Amino acid sequence: MTIRKEYGDFQTPVNLANDVISLITARFGVPGAVVEPTCGLGNFLEPAHNAWGNDIAYHGYEINPDYCDSAKRRFKDVGSIKIEQRDFFSTEWQKLLGQPIDRFTLVVGNPPWVTSATLGSLDSSNLPEKSNFQGLRGFDAKTGKANFDIAEWMIIRLVEALPAGGVLAFLCKTATARRALVYFWQEEITVSDESLYRFDSKKFFDVSVDACLLILRKTVKPATYASVYDSMHDPVPVSRFGMQNGELIANLDDYQLYRDLDGLSNYKWRSGVKHDAAQVMELTPCKGGYTNGMGEFVQIEDDFVYPLLKSSDVGNARLIPRKSVIITQSTVGEDTSRVRTLAPRTWAYLEAHAGFLDFRKSSIYRKRPRFSIFGIGEYSFAPWKVAISGLYKELRFVVMAPFGDKPTMVDDTCYFFPCADEEEARFWAGLLNKEDCIRFLHSLVFFDAKRPVNVDVLRRVDFAELARRHGVFEQALQYLRSAGALEGRKQQMLVFEEKEEYRKKDNR
Ligand SMILES: C[S@@+](CC[C@H](N)C(=O)[O-])C[C@H]1O[C@@H](n2cnc3c(N)ncnc32)[C@H](O)[C@@H]1O
Repeated sequence: MTIRKEYGDFQTPVNLANDVISLITARFGVPGAVVEPTCGLGNFLEPAHNAWGNDIAYHGYEINPDYCDSAKRRFKDVGSIKIEQRDFFSTEWQKLLGQPIDRFTLVVGNPPWVTSATLGSLDSSNLPEKSNFQGLRGFDAKTGKANFDIAEWMIIRLVEALPAGGVLAFLCKTATARRALVYFWQEEITVSDESLYRFDSKKFFDVSVDACLLILRKTVKPATYASVYDSMHDPVPVSRFGMQNGELIANLDDYQLYRDLDGLSNYKWRSGVKHDAAQVMELTPCKGGYTNGMGEFVQIEDDFVYPLLKSSDVGNARLIPRKSVIITQSTVGEDTSRVRTLAPRTWAYLEAHAGFLDFRKSSIYRKRPRFSIFGIGEYSFAPWKVAISGLYKELRFVVMAPFGDKPTMVDDTCYFFPCADEEEARFWAGLLNKEDCIRFLHSLVFFDAKRPVNVDVLRRVDFAELARRHGVFEQALQYLRSAGALEGRKQQMLVFEEKEEYRKKDNR
């Protein structure tokens, strides 16, 4: 099993490989040469040969000698198919990927779906020589620290080696395909016809990850966007993604429709409370006290305990808090000894669980007051908030009310901005949930990312413009003028000035 994992070894089912070959024929015609760089048993070579016949040279390369032997036996009577044992990483691909006259070279297959970190944990040497992978992560790559994707590395090397007109068709994770494309677009490696055809990786490989067939052509006339198809049988793309003003946009057509909303938010989006010790810091109220994540009964003062909504509550609009959280500080870095003075039982509880708290992995807790938390400031104590979970595909902004006599907190997978009262919170949540705003956000978000929605995306919604689009600009103005008051910095600048500056920078 480990060996299979180390070599990212999942052989492609024949019906999926057949679909790939039919699609290539429909889009590009018959190639002049076919190369499968990590061919395993040769599951692409067979349907390719069935479709295109003996006039073409087929080459399969594979590191695993047993697979090589099986593939050689499989194709022993087919003179046009050659199998060779080779390590991808020590192969000079440029020498192998020549251009047949009048036809194109096709590189097709299914590279290993593993990251260097997984290989590191398996103590595997199935990695490229310590190379400066993608310059950006140069230092980490040299020291072997970077967690890069083997398939991404392979796709990049192959496309660099492909002659103009050559086509690459690889099954991979959609995130891998996207990163490789961004690399080509940024490095100005000329590719065109970029397409992602989604397929059900659970059904074919029993893995739960967003996967696709990535197709592209090496060309002289580049295109800097990719079309996304729901399946290999869909003739029409569902969306296009690509670069715009140097930024990656998830849905270029929707972005064009709603780009007036792209600006700078006047409200400062914040992420929720971070403590990395849910078992200790998060409590469930019960008769006479609380229970913690280890099922222990906890009796502590109320002073530092606040109602809490988790991401799943915010994402599903379950807005009556069922949990509480211990908030040891009111600003980042504040001395926590006041907890000991004001709430000795709370301090004793924290000390009793110091084994968890003092050894939290993240370096942010080092050299900080004991039992520190992050994502905390004056804004956290605003009575009303507008919040969104960063983890859900369905984007929904919710109004968070105080609970009991305390402001409600959210966990660090949620984002929010503070409001002075209910009216202000409802006003903005209503606007943010309008279809144009949601579609604008969708145009910026890749939902296969770990945390699709984040502060960088949210802060691009121009609140003033959103209000203007919905004819409520005058009402918005009263809130916008005082936005920031709850941040403890009062009104620093008018939004409009801020936006002017941004526009100048953006050169639009
Ligand atoms: C996901 S499987 C796909 C196999 C085959 N292309 C198919 O679609 O059925 C990945 C293949 O890559 C091979 N492989 C892994 N590392 C390799 C390397 N460094 N050089 C060549 N092949 C490698 C594995 O042995 C495995 O057969």
